[in-house]
Amino acid sequence: MYKNHEFWKFFDNEAAAKLALREKTFRKIFEHLDLVEGPITIVETGCARLADNWAGDGQSTVMFDKYISSRDQESVCYTVDINPTSVSECKKLVSPRIHITQDDSVHYLNVLARQFSQAEKCISFLYLDSFDLDKTYWYPSAIHHLKELTAVMRFIDAKTLVVVDDCPLNGDFIPGTGTQISFLAPASVGGKGRLVAEYAAAAGARILFSDYQAGWTGF
Ligand SMILES: C[S@@+](CC[C@H](N)C(=O)[O-])C[C@H]1O[C@@H](n2cnc3c(N)ncnc32)[C@H](O)[C@@H]1O
Repeated sequence: MYKNHEFWKFFDNEAAAKLALREKTFRKIFEHLDLVEGPITIVETGCARLADNWAGDGQSTVMFDKYISSRDQESVCYTVDINPTSVSECKKLVSPRIHITQDDSVHYLNVLARQFSQAEKCISFLYLDSFDLDKTYWYPSAIHHLKELTAVMRFIDAKTLVVVDDCPLNGDFIPGTGTQISFLAPASVGGKGRLVAEYAAAAGARILFSDYQAGWTGF
């Protein structure tokens, strides 16, 4: 198990309180990564685009940078963003350990997958957070994230942690008595991860958490 004291000091003292509704699940992500042996490969879509936007977006790339830097010399993180402004802002926030590319994520992941194929690499942690979610018209974002998963599927194994951000749950419910509500069906993963979740369920992947972010292993 990796201790990563420097990272956890940073997480607990500087990040946790500001992460708001993502705190619990980011903690689970890094606890999971601490259990992975050897250097890790993180692949992210949608980079940190605004300094200090902890509660809004999550500052994922900043945390991934701190995490791999405190972990070892070999772990890597690749991130992609279609917006040149997001890319240039992100470059100001992270160290050269982060490989940042400006491209459409599905196209980029396909190119990256070819490189991984030659290097016989596998992804330890896939973090999908690109195409912004429109809560009233979630299809384009959810489809885009399913395409991203498809593009790198060959480089995901049973141990890979796959996480999608902005996945508020969907529930079919009616008012009950008083303040209670009656659910007609269990709540399900919504938002950006809705179609990834449908695929994960059909494929028999194991859901590790389902909160504002949803995470699976066992694809
Ligand atoms: C929610 S933000 C990412 C936030 C970041 N993960 C964080 O925690 O701070 C979404 C980003 O995805 C980018 N994006 C939108 N569509 C994209 C696409 N097709 N390919 C790559 N990036 C895309 C946007 O430019 C934006 O910077």
